[in-house]
Amino acid sequence: PRCYALVPAAGSGSRAGLAGPKQYHRLAGRRVIDHTLAALTAVPALVGVAVVLAPDDPTPLGDGERVRAWRVGGATRAESVFNGLQALASAGARAHDWVLVHDAARCLVRPADIAALIEACRDDPVGGLLAMPLADTLKDGASDGRVEHTLPREGKWLAQTPQMFRLGALRAALQRHQASGFAGITDEASAIEHAGARPRLVRGHAQNIKVTYPEDFAVAEALLQAGAA
Ligand code: C5P
Repeated sequence: PRCYALVPAAGSGSRAGLAGPKQYHRLAGRRVIDHTLAALTAVPALVGVAVVLAPDDPTPLGDGERVRAWRVGGATRAESVFNGLQALASAGARAHDWVLVHDAARCLVRPADIAALIEACRDDPVGGLLAMPLADTLKDGASDGRVEHTLPREGKWLAQTPQMFRLGALRAALQRHQASGFAGITDEASAIEHAGARPRLVRGHAQNIKVTYPEDFAVAEALLQAGAA
C-alpha cells in the first residue's frame, strides 16, 4: 500500500483573529501552509500530498510534482477530509492505501515524527496518530467560569496530526456521520473509534502545535526562526 498525505486547509481561521485564513499568514518569511507542505514533502514515504481548499479560495497552490490542491472544502474539518478522500480515490488511490491527515495549521511538525508514525503504523491493522501525554492538570469547567472538578491526568493524551488510517476504513467511518453533519468528529481517530477500532498512540513532539490563537503565531515564529522545524 502507498502512503498519501491529506491536508484540510479550508477553515476560516476565525479564532486566530486574522483577516484571512490562518494558513496564509506569513511566518518567518513563508506562508503557514508552505511550512506545512515542506515538512510533508520532506518525507520520502509519502508519494503524494493532497490539499483541500475552500471552493471559493483563489490562492494558487499545488503546482508541485507531489502536491495537488482540490477546492472541495466543506462546512467542517471532517467534511473537508471526507471530500478530500473522495478526490484522492477518484485520482487513483486505493481503499487499502494509507492516508495521513494533517492540519494545515500544524506547520511545526517534524518530518522525523511523520516518518516515525508511518513506521509504527504501516503493519498495524488499524493505524494511529501522533499524540502527547498530557503534562498539565485537566479541569472540567462549568459555565459560571468555575471548576466543576479535576479529571485524572493518568493515561490522558493530546491528539495531534498526522493521523494515519486506511483510505477505505476512514471514508466508511466518516460516512456514518455525514447525516449528522459530522457532529462531534473533531479528528479522524474519533470517527475510527466510533466505528469500533482502537487507533495506536504514537508519541510525537510538543513542538507540533496547531496555530489557532493569536499568541500561537508568536511561538511558531520563534521556533521557525530558531530553525526548530
Ligand atoms: O478549526 P480547526 O483548528 O480544527 O482546523 C483544523 C484544520 O482543519 C485547519 O487546517 C483548517 O484549515 C481545516 N478545516 C477545513 N475545513 C473546515 C474547517 C477547518 O479544512 N471547514
